[in-house]
Amino acid sequence: MELANRHILLGVTGGVAAYKAAELARELQRHGATVQVVMTEAATRFVTAVTFQALTGRRVFTDQWDSSIPNNMAHIELSRQADAILIAPATADFLAKLAHGRADDLLSTLCLARSCPLLVAPAMNREMWANLATQRNAAQLVEDGVALLGPDSGDQACGETGMGRMLEPQDLVEETVAFFAPKALASRRVLITAGPTFEPIDPVRGITNLSSGKMGFAIARACRHAGADVTLVAGPTTLPTPRGVARIDVTTAQQMFEAVTGSLDLAPRTDAFVAVAAVADWRVSNASTSKLKKTEGGGPPALQFAENPDILASVAARPDAPYCVGFAAESENLEKNGQDKRTRKGVPLLVANIGHATFGRDDNELLIIDAQGTRTLERASKNVLAAQLVALIASRLGAS
Ligand code: CTP
Repeated sequence: MELANRHILLGVTGGVAAYKAAELARELQRHGATVQVVMTEAATRFVTAVTFQALTGRRVFTDQWDSSIPNNMAHIELSRQADAILIAPATADFLAKLAHGRADDLLSTLCLARSCPLLVAPAMNREMWANLATQRNAAQLVEDGVALLGPDSGDQACGETGMGRMLEPQDLVEETVAFFAPKALASRRVLITAGPTFEPIDPVRGITNLSSGKMGFAIARACRHAGADVTLVAGPTTLPTPRGVARIDVTTAQQMFEAVTGSLDLAPRTDAFVAVAAVADWRVSNASTSKLKKTEGGGPPALQFAENPDILASVAARPDAPYCVGFAAESENLEKNGQDKRTRKGVPLLVANIGHATFGRDDNELLIIDAQGTRTLERASKNVLAAQLVALIASRLGAS
């Protein structure tokens, strides 16, 4: 749970996107955070406090004159308890208040009284967002160190289309997780392969494997959260692209090889290459351009195979080789085969899946194999393991 032990004060202001804040409160909790909701008076016109109270199991605060708080210091206490304040949605009016340091209701007062980071998700009509006053206020907030999350462009509740939509709850959670992640890969470039490859036999058939791409995508996401510039070369998978990651879709091993070498040639200053893809070792060299037909008494087609390039080994052998990390799925002698593979591929670090039934699962258990020996990363979600691997890669890069 990536937000475990994080206490988030969710500030809801009076925009129509307030209804999405209910989903956001839920998602933040699903990621392990505790959520304390504070609403402006206007927000309660869109969604009731009861909704948030039921979702968070905590009393919702709306009034700075609440006489049930013994010392009348709700603004101090609420802001002191928070690891971060997230305002979603933040109206144009609330941005203006924040930019000018105004404190005329509970939420704006506790923002002013805070000692924790402030994250703000603007949501408004496109003309309001484009207005010079709003742009001035947003720029001022960025200069003051406030994290602006969005807005996005798209359909708006008012029927117009343009910039000003609040980021979706899922994206706001991603941004919040990223905000808390240590920036161990700031200004680093990382190239990652993920997923299976598909080697055609004819236009409708082919050879592939059960790799889902989840581990590679999780690593791309964690690298991005750590501040890296990430390119992800993905074999066929329907997984969504992690926010902020540049994705190149490929089908075959040969295309993956070309995408990787092309990317390295374009950006020779790549710091790390993480080969997570389950690449087919062989392709069908006599693949048919038309669908193979079953002929009476003809027997099975005679497929011939050619070896695919070893992407990882070829990157590791480059004179300008980045720090290379390989993955391995072995069905036996994990440690011995892993060490052999590490040496054979010429990479400093090899990560072996413990147990070969990891394909498609959301969790995993890993064996880290390097020149010093081996150690285990205990079973955890692929996202948690990815963050641990990123910390390890960052420490190796730092030491190089
Ligand atoms: N790999 C690669 N290009 C290939 C084959 C593998 O880049 N053509 C990379 C994988 O992405 C992974 C590592 O090499 O990081 C090990 O992959 P694996 O399939 O386990 O190794 P193989 O070399 O294919 O060895 P074997 O299948 O015989 O165990």
